[in-house]
Amino acid sequence: MNESDIKKVLLTKEQLDEIVKRLGEQISNDYKDKKLMLVGVLKGSVLFMADLMRSITIDCKIDFMAVSSYAGGTKSTGAVKIIKDLDIDLSGYDLLIVEDILDSGNTLSYLKKMLLARNPSSIRICTLLDKPSRRVADVTADYVGAVIPDEFVVGYGLDYDEYYRNLSFVGVLKESVYE
Ligand code: IMP
Ligand code: MG
Repeated sequence: MNESDIKKVLLTKEQLDEIVKRLGEQISNDYKDKKLMLVGVLKGSVLFMADLMRSITIDCKIDFMAVSSYAGGTKSTGAVKIIKDLDIDLSGYDLLIVEDILDSGNTLSYLKKMLLARNPSSIRICTLLDKPSRRVADVTADYVGAVIPDEFVVGYGLDYDEYYRNLSFVGVLKESVYE
């Protein structure tokens, strides 16, 4: 479970820093007259969230949710179970959901609907990575770090079997690890 399991590096630490800086500037500008609350989706978003919030220069609050999809094997069914809910009342806040990756879109489309029902002022999505070729649900991100091809990636928060989250770059995992 280490760097030798990585087939190729997709985003270096320097590229991730650039992405986070760009998104932080954009968000700080777009939300300067709003009541920003970042909602991180555990656990994949933790490193991205930690860096992104430091690159945001306006007032904001943060909170976290943990969800799991009712997946049978590797196929997501679309239904999502809340493992940890938010602590803060959302009314009046402009929510920005912070995710590691938008894949089928099932998780985020469910989350967005669920959070909309709690009367925030607005909801947008910020995802570090976007795999548009795999989209099933009707959901798009408002802020995207990088669009990536349909390959299984790990690092910078993203896991395979809960490992590799601590890598400081995003890389494609060797097939031999999961075959
Ligand atoms: P979705 O509901 O299919 O969009 O799946 C989103 C979740 O699946 C993400 O939050 C990740 O936890 C996981 N996921 C999807 N693609 C990858 C990947 O390439 N590497 C690691 N996790 C992934
Ligand atoms: Mg995730």
